[in-house]
Amino acid sequence: MFAIRDFGAPRKGRRRLFLRAVVGAVAFGALLLVLGFQFSGRKAHADARSAIQARGEYLVMVAGCNDCHTPWKLGPHGPEPDMRRMLSGHPEGMEVPEAPVTATGPWTWAGTDTNTAFAGPWGVSYAPNLTPDENTGIGIWTEDIFVNTLRSGRHWGVARPILPPMPWQNFARMTDEDLTAIFAYLRFIPPVTNRVPESQPAAVQQAATGTQ
Ligand code: HEC
Repeated sequence: MFAIRDFGAPRKGRRRLFLRAVVGAVAFGALLLVLGFQFSGRKAHADARSAIQARGEYLVMVAGCNDCHTPWKLGPHGPEPDMRRMLSGHPEGMEVPEAPVTATGPWTWAGTDTNTAFAGPWGVSYAPNLTPDENTGIGIWTEDIFVNTLRSGRHWGVARPILPPMPWQNFARMTDEDLTAIFAYLRFIPPVTNRVPESQPAAVQQAATGTQ
């Protein structure tokens, strides 16, 4: 008995080692499988964002839409667009007092520290919400409205002229493909509920205050 036990012990030990190796290998395999699924899941999501939307994202970045349509905050390296509120426009809760600008200059126009509200000879303009939120963004816009707006420089593509500093004159020169790619990307970004005040063209302000 003593002898058998003596011989049995190392064999049991080897078997345990072998079992541990098998369990380890299975666990490692399972981990790889899970990681693989996650990776392919991410890839599927990236594929879902079509090449057109990726082009739109690129254009939005290089054309600087975030400069005015995303509220700026103070970051560790100075002011920067607050990307948690990406393209959601002038923050609805922010009070904007009358800007101290004069027609004679040299300071003829001003902007808020969020870089979303601007005052000048044109009146007061607020960068609108470009996210797909249906009530406060451009969720109900069609591609035609979007393209016509940037091409014509008119509110909703048909109404009053779009006020500065929206550089629509530059964007009007984009190709149809580029404009529709931007629109496709804007449909894809997270909707943000933020009701931006209506811009006040100078003519409207003058009518309201009775000044010329
Ligand atoms: C320098 C600041 C600035 C930049 C850069 C800018 N915008 Fe604007 N944008 C504005 C302001 C301000 C308004 C509001 C103008 C008004 O109410 O008349 C506006 C208005 C708009 C509107 C609404 C027009 C309407 O019907 O009332 C759209 C759409 C728009 N911008 C898209 C874009 C896109 C897309 C980009 C980038 C390709 C961009 N903007 C870059 C400042 C800017």
